[in-house]
Amino acid sequence: MSSLDYLLEKNRHWADSIVADDAEFFSRLAKQQAPDYLWIGCSDSRVPANQVVDLAPGEVFVHRNVGNLVVHSDLNCLSVLHYAVSALRVKHVLVVGHYGCGGVRAAMEGLRLGLVDNWLRHLQDVKDRYRDCLSAIDDVNERANRLCELNVIEQVAHVCSTTTVRDAWARGQQLVVHGWAYSLENGLVTDLGISISRERDIESAHLAALEKRLR
Ligand code: CO
Repeated sequence: MSSLDYLLEKNRHWADSIVADDAEFFSRLAKQQAPDYLWIGCSDSRVPANQVVDLAPGEVFVHRNVGNLVVHSDLNCLSVLHYAVSALRVKHVLVVGHYGCGGVRAAMEGLRLGLVDNWLRHLQDVKDRYRDCLSAIDDVNERANRLCELNVIEQVAHVCSTTTVRDAWARGQQLVVHGWAYSLENGLVTDLGISISRERDIESAHLAALEKRLR
């Protein structure tokens, strides 16, 4: 007997309930996926991509890592992005940070946690870049929330400057890259006011979004 029998039982209930509603659901989905969205979010268990935006299996392609980072040399993230944009032809890329992010907090406070410190170094780079703005915020939670937002804005710019996204725009493909922040406290998403749909808007949209957060 597997100690995870209860999960397998939950799985059977879940699959049965979907088939009860729509007998062809799984057989249809098994043939192909055609999601409109790529979600790049944090690994945090409290921020499940499909559930947050109430989308069914097949509707959102997902990449998650600690701190929702898009690092220019991360072949994992870049491969997901490339497949989503070039093969699946998603229409939207959502970079989704979340308030109360442990990765953001650790980076902000320079905590030593182990191996992950090297990954969080990318978040510390964002912290260093906006040090003046962040150090002017007295409340530590508010400061972490601001770093969460600034990080999303930076990662949106990173997505937009990849060869994958620039090539897609160059061939006339419709693709919008958005920055969101999710609240663990109330389950609501805040649109950070950065949605970029062409290469020549990257810099101005990036600056405009930063302006709103750096006041
Ligand atoms: Co997080």
